[in-house]
Amino acid sequence: MKRIGVLVSGGGSNLQAIINSIEDRKLEAEIAVVISNRPNAFALERAARHGIPTVVIDHHDFPTVREFTEAIVGNLRKYRVELVCLAGFLKILDRIIIDAYPNKILNIHPALLPAFGGKGMYGHHVHEAVLASGTKYSGATVHLVTAETDVGPIVLQGVVKVDDDDTSESLAEKVLQIEHQIFPEAIRLVLEDRIMIDGLRTKLKR
Ligand code: GRF
Repeated sequence: MKRIGVLVSGGGSNLQAIINSIEDRKLEAEIAVVISNRPNAFALERAARHGIPTVVIDHHDFPTVREFTEAIVGNLRKYRVELVCLAGFLKILDRIIIDAYPNKILNIHPALLPAFGGKGMYGHHVHEAVLASGTKYSGATVHLVTAETDVGPIVLQGVVKVDDDDTSESLAEKVLQIEHQIFPEAIRLVLEDRIMIDGLRTKLKR
């Protein structure tokens, strides 16, 4: 059974979607460990309820991003993680994690990358920017993580209509539903080695 490690910072609804997919037999994988940078992240409670090992690696405890990242990589190795999933993880990591897990780190972003990505584009900031832009569609993206923030080969995307009466909150809720659908599916595709990378494009292996 392939072992995945999930990095979290907040509520963990994407973690819950992954847990549900595994328990519903839609995703054949084992969550070996859930690592949070915040001790009070509700995602930790979700993991505990399902008997999943958890580790808190508080970024405040490390003088540099590199040492913070080294602590995370050390725990991923300790739990024999094969695929790393950033699920609402809000800290920038040192590139050593990419060297440790080349093309084996997935991130979920609540917009249609490459639009509305990059510095400062997280949480409600994304949806506010989408609404202000006048775009009629938004959605979510699962991509492989490279050295640049929110830029990496896109594995899956899902689209939602931006309605005239949408607020940042209502749009976030619609996008989150898409996230919960595409993240487990993207994990399945990568674990089954179905993804062929061609620059920033990915293609499905037959
Ligand atoms: C989600 O919108 C995700 O796209 C972003 O963090 C938000 C919260 O995720 N990266 P979760 O509920 O903690 O999984």
